[in-house]
Amino acid sequence: MVYEPAQRIADFKPYFFASLSKRLAELKARDMDIIRIDIGSPDLPPADFIIERLYQAAKRPDAHGYTPNGGTPAFKRATAEYYGRRFGVEVDPDTETIALIGSKEGLFNLSQVLVNPGDVVLVPDPGYPVYSASGIIAGASVHSMPLLAENGFLPRLEDIPEDVARKAKILWLNYPNNPTGAIATLAFYQQALDFARKYNLLVAHDAPYADVCFDGYHAPSILELPGAKEITVEFNSLSKTYNMAGWRLGMAVGNADVIKMLSTYKSQVDTSVFLPILEAGMAALEGDQGWLEERNAIYQLRRDIILEALLAVGFQIETPKAAIYVWARLPAGESDSMSFCSRLLEETGVSTTPGVVYGQYGEGYLRISLGADTERIKEAVARIAAWVH
Ligand SMILES: Cc1ncc(COP(=O)(O)O)c(C=O)c1O
Repeated sequence: MVYEPAQRIADFKPYFFASLSKRLAELKARDMDIIRIDIGSPDLPPADFIIERLYQAAKRPDAHGYTPNGGTPAFKRATAEYYGRRFGVEVDPDTETIALIGSKEGLFNLSQVLVNPGDVVLVPDPGYPVYSASGIIAGASVHSMPLLAENGFLPRLEDIPEDVARKAKILWLNYPNNPTGAIATLAFYQQALDFARKYNLLVAHDAPYADVCFDGYHAPSILELPGAKEITVEFNSLSKTYNMAGWRLGMAVGNADVIKMLSTYKSQVDTSVFLPILEAGMAALEGDQGWLEERNAIYQLRRDIILEALLAVGFQIETPKAAIYVWARLPAGESDSMSFCSRLLEETGVSTTPGVVYGQYGEGYLRISLGADTERIKEAVARIAAWVH
């Protein structure tokens, strides 16, 4: 029997990290000492009290059945209260929040509920690949908004052609940004809201790194702006904030109609999140946030180790104030990030992410993740420095 993929996925390539894992397994089988500073998966565990809550909840005999579509009322309340405490934003837990099986799920599904074939989605380039992949599956044309160093890695909304803007359904934004580590001000978010109002579209703000900040910086939520909630959905996640990437728990907050669409769609597609994970998520959101400062200090130290080593050998890097990435321009004479990262891996065992994975404007860069053991990061950058010299 020969099976053909459906047309809408026929051109899909495997997600970069899925293919990379295969190559890494081959190199490991040859006894190569691999250091992974490619993927944005926190290496540190969540605080003990979060794990303890998971364990306690899992021991309860009534905790093993299906949970309500889109999360328990208690988890939604915890989300709304977190938004109140952390950002001063008031949201109705029932109608303006929804639990997600990790934010990636919600990002993907947002395109499915809002976008018709022929619509346009406005996507940052470089950007997290799900924004465009989900739009393409929904039949949209993707309009790339270049994120350039000279603009602080913010899109220039004024450069979007009028006819494109009129067909657009979603303006995707992501700050603190993956992969560039850039941040956005409320003034920039205000421009985005004005643009969305003018062209009658939704701002989808992806904010999983809002609590991973350095040098005393605190990232704002776009929802802090007056009226933002009417035209915005903000995605958030426990993955990076609380070191819970494998647990798969996130949330969307904002426009009630869109939250309802997501809820209806998800009720046909998935069966929500395991109760002990929701409960542990509540413990994370409601509990002492003090441990995050210590965790962020560890990332900051790693950032500084990487910067010091790589700036000394000619990489150009803007110091990131948030997120868990260093976005480095390739050394002079190198322009092909896929080839550079592949040679680096084969010859030194250090696995980084080629910038082009995030779009054509990511070409010429590589991304280094801070989510690896500090001593291994030191070793990795020493290998990189010796190799480029
Ligand atoms: C910008 C961005 N959005 C969303 C996600 C997905 O996070 P989650 O684990 O909540 O699905 C990631 C993960 O790397 C990310 O970098």
